[in-house]
Amino acid sequence: MPALSLDIHPLRPEELASFARDLPFREMAQHERRLSRQTRGDGVYLVAWERATPTPPRLVDDPTHQNDQAHDQDSDGANFGEWVAIGQGVVTWRPSATADDLAQRLGCPIVNDLFVHPARRSQGIGAALLAACEAAARAHGDSRIALGVGLENPRARTLYERHGYRTARLGELYTSGTGRDTQGQERSWEEIITYLVKSLIEPASPDTEGAADQTTEDSVASSSAALAGAESAPVAAYDEVAEWYDERIRDEALTHGLTLPAALDLIETEQLAGQRVCDLACGQGGVTRLLTRYGAVMTGVDIAGSLLALAERAEAEAPLGITYIRDDLCAPTQLADAQFDGALCHMALMDVADLGAAAHTVGRILKPGAWFVFVITHPAYQTPNSSWTITEDGNQYRMVADYFAVGFWRPPSQGSATSVRERVGAHHRTLGAYLNAFTAAGLTFERLLEPQIGAKLRERLLAANPPPARQALAWGGMEIPIALAARVRRR
Ligand SMILES: C[S@@+](CC[C@H](N)C(=O)[O-])C[C@H]1O[C@@H](n2cnc3c(N)ncnc32)[C@H](O)[C@@H]1O
Repeated sequence: MPALSLDIHPLRPEELASFARDLPFREMAQHERRLSRQTRGDGVYLVAWERATPTPPRLVDDPTHQNDQAHDQDSDGANFGEWVAIGQGVVTWRPSATADDLAQRLGCPIVNDLFVHPARRSQGIGAALLAACEAAARAHGDSRIALGVGLENPRARTLYERHGYRTARLGELYTSGTGRDTQGQERSWEEIITYLVKSLIEPASPDTEGAADQTTEDSVASSSAALAGAESAPVAAYDEVAEWYDERIRDEALTHGLTLPAALDLIETEQLAGQRVCDLACGQGGVTRLLTRYGAVMTGVDIAGSLLALAERAEAEAPLGITYIRDDLCAPTQLADAQFDGALCHMALMDVADLGAAAHTVGRILKPGAWFVFVITHPAYQTPNSSWTITEDGNQYRMVADYFAVGFWRPPSQGSATSVRERVGAHHRTLGAYLNAFTAAGLTFERLLEPQIGAKLRERLLAANPPPARQALAWGGMEIPIALAARVRRR
């Protein structure tokens, strides 16, 4: 197996001569340009090496390069035991100003020129190079990666899809150029490509605390098979608790009495008539349906197929013209650019694993000047390990610590596990992280609300004879904000 002696690492300047000797299919000047881009920190030029063997390598065709003809050509000039270059992949962190329009819109690293020596194809080396490109992007702090594939190369597309890549529905691009084929012949080529994108957020096991977005590709919730994108969508954290969550949230006093009124205030519902609005992380579509009452034309997007199935059922029973899409806000494949007049995300950004990627999506799908409203648990008071306490004298306190402990956390179960966060946990971020993520994605901050529990809502909350922690919240929410709502606007 070649993998036994395979080594993939960024090209080093001292390796350039042997690299060009082993893979003589590209111009030396191109190698040098890529090497200097890597030195500047614009990307990484990954090369796969293996130790030269006396056995002639097997010759097989490979779909990753339809323009290269396979020929029985072994590495020239390498001595037995010496490291020989057998493949390459180029990752550019961000498309340059001269890159094509679609690449610019992707806003994530792009893999180019993934190439395996014809004599070493179909032996897992392309997959190893792809994995190395993804690992490099992850290490760089990116949550998505993309690559282009020719429309007339379905085998390559299938291969990439098998590795988790999905079509970014941005359109198609005509490309052409000249270069040398694997025989060294000068050739001109042209093709129409489309970009595929992959989320780099690690799948978590159901037992893991950070299981907000589980991506077990094999297990797709069958109840949502009719939804757009369902065939390839992952099982999400809320799929595990869908029925319980639906029941739990349906008449939730805090939603109807606190967080939703704050959202509606910021949305300015009197202007909603005729607007195209996207409910991001819409869950079972309660808020999505509500906004149609103000005349908005709604699209709901969520990653959890089981919740979307409930939303679809409600739509089938009482149609309101809502379109539901199953997609991941962090790496959506079905949302076109600049199509919405407004968007909201109600009580869900704490569930979203990658805030930067989600903010980028928001910026991309909104028209210039369009609004975005989000409501979250208050990041200053709902921190990891924070809790409500009632002292013996009957006073309630919010114990707050670990504001800077950014990451996934889950409050300890109070026994009956009635809180959503006890079930699914939350991604804690600082207030600054929220505001800065949207500013970085091209949105300007406009208005912030910290809704307060009033006497009426407190009585409603207490009427259900809740456990002590919930009673403390009912009283404490009159003194401390438990939610935060903000409106930002696309520049
Ligand atoms: C607490 S629920 C809120 C649902 C709805 N907005 C509401 O207020 O009723 C959080 C939702 O975020 C969704 N979600 C989490 N991560 C997501 C992602 N990456 N892409 C899309 N939806 C996501 C979950 O599936 C879940 O439906």
